[in-house]
Amino acid sequence: MSTHTPHTHEKESQSARLLVPDGFSPEEVKNLSSVLNALLADTFALYLKTKNFHWHMSGQHFRDYHLLLDEHATQIFDITDAIAERVRKVGGTTIRSIGHIAKLQRIADNDQEFVGPTEMLKELHADNKALVESMRTAHEVAAKANDYATTSLIEVWIDEAERRAWFLFEATR
Ligand SMILES: [Fe+2]
Repeated sequence: MSTHTPHTHEKESQSARLLVPDGFSPEEVKNLSSVLNALLADTFALYLKTKNFHWHMSGQHFRDYHLLLDEHATQIFDITDAIAERVRKVGGTTIRSIGHIAKLQRIADNDQEFVGPTEMLKELHADNKALVESMRTAHEVAAKANDYATTSLIEVWIDEAERRAWFLFEATR
C-alpha cells in the first residue's frame, strides 16, 4: 500500500518529467549531479569574484590586471553552461538560482570595501587552485561512472584553470 499523499505523487510526476534517458545508475546520477553542481556553484562564485576584482582593480598595473581578470572571467563563465548541461545529460537536475549557488559554493565571496591589487591576484590564484582540486575530484567521480564525456571536458577545464593560476602566480611574484 502506498503511503504517498496525492501531493507527493504530483511532485514525483513533476520530477519524472525532467528525467532524461541515460546509461547511468541512480547512484551514479546522484554522485555525478552532486559533484558537478558543487563545481558549478564554485564556478559561478569565482566568475563573480573575478568580475568584482576586475571592476574594483586599482594601482599602477590597472590596465594589465583589469584586462587579465576580464579574460579570466569570460573563460570561467564559458564553462558554466557545459557543466549544467552535463548534469542534465546524465539525468540529474542542476542549479536553479543565485540562492542555490550560495548554498553549494565552496569558494568564498569577498565583499570587502577595498582589496589591494596584489591581494586580489593572490586570492584568485588560491581560488583557481582550489577549483582545480574540485575538478580533479569531479573527474574521479565521472571516471568511476565511465562518464567519458564529462572526464574529457574536465581535462580541458583543468588546463584552463591551471593556466589562469599560472598567470596569477607570475603576476604577483
Ligand atoms: Fe569590464
